[in-house]
Amino acid sequence: MFVLETDRLFLRHYKEEDIPSLHCILSDSETMKYYPSPFSYEKTNNWVKNNQKRYKEDGYGLWAICLKENEELIGDCGLIKQVVDGKIEVEIGYHINKIYWSKGYATEAAKACKEYGFYKIGLDKLISIIDPRNIPSSRVAEKIGFTKEKQVFIFNKNHYIYSCLRNRK
Ligand SMILES: CC(C)(COP(=O)(O)OP(=O)(O)OC[C@H]1O[C@@H](n2cnc3c(N)ncnc32)[C@H](O)[C@@H]1OP(=O)(O)O)[C@@H](O)C(=O)NCCC(=O)NCCS
Repeated sequence: MFVLETDRLFLRHYKEEDIPSLHCILSDSETMKYYPSPFSYEKTNNWVKNNQKRYKEDGYGLWAICLKENEELIGDCGLIKQVVDGKIEVEIGYHINKIYWSKGYATEAAKACKEYGFYKIGLDKLISIIDPRNIPSSRVAEKIGFTKEKQVFIFNKNHYIYSCLRNRK
């Protein structure tokens, strides 16, 4: 199912057939540098299944990012519930195939997801959970108007919480 579009991209629900192309991205050690390990095929399969479950239960999740020009799947971006300091927050997450890094795709997709979260779903606050060493991810958060709120211990290590409130466009 189609979710939203930007100048160069469209975002849609994951489908079963996406697993092999997504796995090329999530099994790459450089891409998954700030995760415990690159994904096994089973983990990628669960990633897709969990997001399909989120679409049904929450109405959103991480969506496949595709290039408008040829429909190639180049990563994902979207909204996911996370528990931070005991409170449910909604995070914007993003992963891009490394051959397409630094072309502004994550920023373009994340900006659209921010608008979608605030003005389509009606969320009051969005966050991003970022490893302090992950400069490209911090840059994306900053470029879409998020600011560093605090540092928390989550997913077994320290992370920055970047955030933005709906009234701050
Ligand atoms: C984070 C990620 C999604 C960014 O995707 P992207 O499409 O390359 O992002 P953009 O092109 O929109 O912006 C990247 C920014 O980081 C900057 N950047 C990239 N590598 C950098 C580096 N080594 N040092 C400093 N800045 C860097 C780019 O210059 C750009 O900033 P600028 O526009 O101010 O110049 C991508 O790096 C990725 O998939 N990383 C692995 C997965 C990941 O860590 N996801 C985030 C989990 S919180």
